[in-house]
Amino acid sequence: MKELLNTIYKRKSVRKYDKNQQLSVEQMNSLKLYISQLQPLVPDISYHLEIVKREDTSAKFGEYCLLFYSEEKPFYLLNAGYILEQIDLYLESQYIGVCWYGMAHPKNKTVNGLKHVIMLAFGPSYPLVFRQNTSEFNRKEINTIWSGDFDEEIKEIVRLAPSACNTQSWHFTSSSDRVTIYRDPKIRSIIPKSKLTYFNSIDLGIVMCFFDIALINKGYSYQRTLIDQKTDDNLVKIATYQIKK
Ligand SMILES: Cc1cc2nc3c(=O)[nH]c(=O)nc-3n(C[C@H](O)[C@H](O)[C@H](O)COP(=O)(O)O)c2cc1C
Repeated sequence: MKELLNTIYKRKSVRKYDKNQQLSVEQMNSLKLYISQLQPLVPDISYHLEIVKREDTSAKFGEYCLLFYSEEKPFYLLNAGYILEQIDLYLESQYIGVCWYGMAHPKNKTVNGLKHVIMLAFGPSYPLVFRQNTSEFNRKEINTIWSGDFDEEIKEIVRLAPSACNTQSWHFTSSSDRVTIYRDPKIRSIIPKSKLTYFNSIDLGIVMCFFDIALINKGYSYQRTLIDQKTDDNLVKIATYQIKK
């Protein structure tokens, strides 16, 4: 995961693909190799990844779709976000276009008893579709998503994480060696209320992937505890990190 840091600063959802090109056998083999080395957030949740042609889904763009199927155990949505974000960043690091695609559905809703959770669309994109500078990210200001002192570079990295409809429903608090991550269930969005917790839970897995990449790169070690608990401030506590340098 460590090697994914540089891509965080330039990633961008790609929705326009070059239909005159196809991914090469080497690119597909490298992706499959990368998939065999993914780091789960919760190791005992079974999941299955499948690469299908876009035509086998309702997706409107991309040459392929990467389908994520999972057991529905506690934290499985966080786990899906955490795992697929590694692939999102990996594909972008290879200059392959990719976009999270919550609105699309595959033909097969289950595989071996595992439920379809979400997919990524990906394929050859045009050159220079990625971001050149962090000023190109449309994101909340750091002070609105993080309260407390902490490594400023790490705060900036988590700020750049993608989320469904850019909702950014996360909130971080920190004291010297402890960081707590919350989900704001009252976030405003065009996502239907019935689907908001679902997508925002995937988003929280994505932001934890960014946080872990940042911590590892800056030489911090940590112990993470996952939680799912409403607080008095109308937030949902998702995780605490005990951090050491
Ligand atoms: C869980 C999730 C679901 C998403 N679903 C869709 C989707 O159905 N269609 C789409 O065009 N973009 C989708 N996106 C992409 C977001 O709109 C995008 O990440 C966000 O607006 C931030 O922009 P960026 O990725 O270019 O930084 C999704 C993103 C996430 C994380």
